[in-house]
Amino acid sequence: MLIDSYDRVVDYLRISVTERCNFRCQYCMPEKPFSWVPKENLLTFEELFEFVKIAIDEGVKKIRITGGEPLLREGLDIFIKMIYDYEPKIDLAMTTNAYLLKGTAQKLKDAGLKRINVSIDTLKPDIAQKIAGKDVLKNVLDGVEEALKVGLKVKVNMVPMKNMNANEIVDVLEYSKNRDMTIRFIEYMENKHAIADISGIKSPELLSILKKHYEFEDEGFDGASPSHYFRMKDGYRFGIIEPYEDDFCKKCNRIRLTAEGNLIPCLYFDEAMSINKAIKSGDIKAAAEVLREVVRTKPEKNRWGGEDGEVSSRAFYETGG
Ligand code: 5AD
Ligand code: SF4
Repeated sequence: MLIDSYDRVVDYLRISVTERCNFRCQYCMPEKPFSWVPKENLLTFEELFEFVKIAIDEGVKKIRITGGEPLLREGLDIFIKMIYDYEPKIDLAMTTNAYLLKGTAQKLKDAGLKRINVSIDTLKPDIAQKIAGKDVLKNVLDGVEEALKVGLKVKVNMVPMKNMNANEIVDVLEYSKNRDMTIRFIEYMENKHAIADISGIKSPELLSILKKHYEFEDEGFDGASPSHYFRMKDGYRFGIIEPYEDDFCKKCNRIRLTAEGNLIPCLYFDEAMSINKAIKSGDIKAAAEVLREVVRTKPEKNRWGGEDGEVSSRAFYETGG
């Protein structure tokens, strides 16, 4: 079992299979980065799988494939099947922008994928264009329908922003609720890669908007999930992800692996250790030692909303959020 120095059990691995993305979301990658990681530095799916086996053997129970946009990487279904065949009980999920999901959902499901999280920030084509930098809405919504049709469980992520999509909070919730998809509102997290003038909406304001439309109860937190959940009278549950809250990191159970093999103990900080060399040279023992060391050095908490005004320089497109 992997346990960090604050007694948190780390059993959740997020793997960013590519930093590339076909969207340019304002809060993540408004402009194409100066350069992408060169292809030869990326770990192949076979190499990533070598690390996955170590992680599962060390006690990882949940794996999420992220990006950038994971569906841009060819052969993803084969990678998913490798993981599934090694440990069918693993909770295998993916975060995607859904743009390419229509043609791929069935294949992914057949490979062993269980659940997906999809970003839906708006139901208006022109606002979607503004947020993602291109006309994406139809493909996204078609992708979601397809995923539901093939039997994937779907959660919706929405980042509410002032003067952008804040007036659609209820509409996106209703869209999700009508399809029995849990929605989680994510507080905008400041970072050096986002465009400068985004103004996010924090939990209290969001709740006051929702209270005008619904009655609901605070259910608190559910296991190690970072989401604060609320339940409506009819049983529907929605969540809010509040990284600025003081105790947000208390139950954090996750580490992140980038496509080039950097193991990242916390989304906020730049610290990372590479497993690239160890894996590429077939040194499984060394890779396992890096994993244990990264878990040992996992920081107690992020510094979002810290008083020194520091802003994270971690790129979400490298780490998959
Ligand atoms: N703040 C909050 N959420 C973000 N995401 C990406 N960048 C940010 C940010 N700066 C979320 C997206 C997506 C998930 C991968 O991460 O909404 O759903
Ligand atoms: Fe948007 Fe996700 Fe792509 Fe970032 S990685 S630009 S949040 S679609």
